[in-house]
Amino acid sequence: MSSTGNLLFHVRPGGKLKGTLRVPGDKSVSHRSIMLASLAEGVTQVSGFLEGEDSLATLQAFRQMGVKIEGPEQGRVIIHGVGMSGLKAPDGILDLGNSGTSMRLLSGLLAGQGLNLTLSGDKSLSGRPMRRVTEPLGQMGARIGTAEKGTAPLVIGPVSSLKGFCYQMPVASAQVKSCLLLAGLYAEGETCVIEPAPTRDHTERMLRGFGYPVERRGDKICLTGGGKLTACDIDVPADISSATFFMVGAAIAEGSDVTLEHVGINPTRDGVISILRLMGAEIEVLNPRDVGGEPVADLRIRASSGLKGVQIPEALVPLAIDEFPALFVAAACAEGETVLTGAEELRVKESDRIQVMADGLITLGVDARATDDGIIIQGGAIGGGRVNSHGDHRIAMSFAMAALRAKEEIIIDDCANVNTSFPGFVELAAGAGLDICVDEGGE
Ligand code: S3P
Repeated sequence: MSSTGNLLFHVRPGGKLKGTLRVPGDKSVSHRSIMLASLAEGVTQVSGFLEGEDSLATLQAFRQMGVKIEGPEQGRVIIHGVGMSGLKAPDGILDLGNSGTSMRLLSGLLAGQGLNLTLSGDKSLSGRPMRRVTEPLGQMGARIGTAEKGTAPLVIGPVSSLKGFCYQMPVASAQVKSCLLLAGLYAEGETCVIEPAPTRDHTERMLRGFGYPVERRGDKICLTGGGKLTACDIDVPADISSATFFMVGAAIAEGSDVTLEHVGINPTRDGVISILRLMGAEIEVLNPRDVGGEPVADLRIRASSGLKGVQIPEALVPLAIDEFPALFVAAACAEGETVLTGAEELRVKESDRIQVMADGLITLGVDARATDDGIIIQGGAIGGGRVNSHGDHRIAMSFAMAALRAKEEIIIDDCANVNTSFPGFVELAAGAGLDICVDEGGE
């Protein structure tokens, strides 16, 4: 797949999903593996690394800062850590493409390096809010500037030191939490972050894996600067966010039976399982195990005899934050009304996921109404038509799965960014039974 031009998906209606599949590695864990291994003492071997454009942007940024990284080759990456103060000034701007995680986590990790750096991104990333990280970093003593609207590019200036502090996050964001904890590695004293609701905790888990103490006291997560990281091997689980498309596809398409192997089921990420079960989906969690500090299992999903609409509990929103585009497709196939509230964060993801999904669902004949902080969807028949993903990988893949229940073909515009998180999606989905093909020269 190329990342330029309009790449279209054509998905024929009907079919079912079958088989045992392994989706690519977890994006959040892959980013963090490169970041922490680069700062560690010693050599880290990563397996299951996501070779998607987002995590490759992080990998490339560390190469530009002088870290020797071998691979990736079939998910294997070898990182020769340079230690906490071994990064070098890059040869130019660090271009992070579409990746919000790279930009927000790197802004913290790099704020205390004593280097002049510029972080840039593509059109979507350059429209996303960055003050949520630059303001608290400023309170720690960082010199970090944004464009006028609080967006990228981020320009970081050298400072002699950062100061630890305690920050109450206004939004439940793992990216903000991780940014500040990574800055805290370089700060004097203790840095604490208080979460308004639990968010994904891969940073904390992986820091501990690299031998760095991180303490959780209730909703407060703390570490003390000045320590060091020691290399350790990492087995990246399959990404539950990528598995979601197959979970939803199997739940909505009659006769489906899919097993997804080695999926990360970290309790801060498993909201999609809870929500689909509330809707009546049949999901079995098989062979649960611990892999390098992250819970992993195989997930078996069989077609549900009938999903039902639900009021999605707000407490589950941060635990399923990336899964809503696919969950909206499940809601469109359910009987009755599904209501989501408390999810305004969806408006500042790779696209405005509330509006873009509502527009696409309406085009397909579904009764969907966007609200300020969520959506109301009446389940019913899905027609067919041409929808625009607005370059948002998760929206493209969600509408592809909707075709399993559509009456006519679904054509999806602007799908190249599927490669940011899920290289090989089309091949894997086609192998499992989705009638999908790619048109690289779409107009
Ligand atoms: C991520 C955190 C989430 C999520 C993103 C990855 C991470 O963002 O949407 O895809 O790896 O920390 P927020 O922290 O902004 O909610």
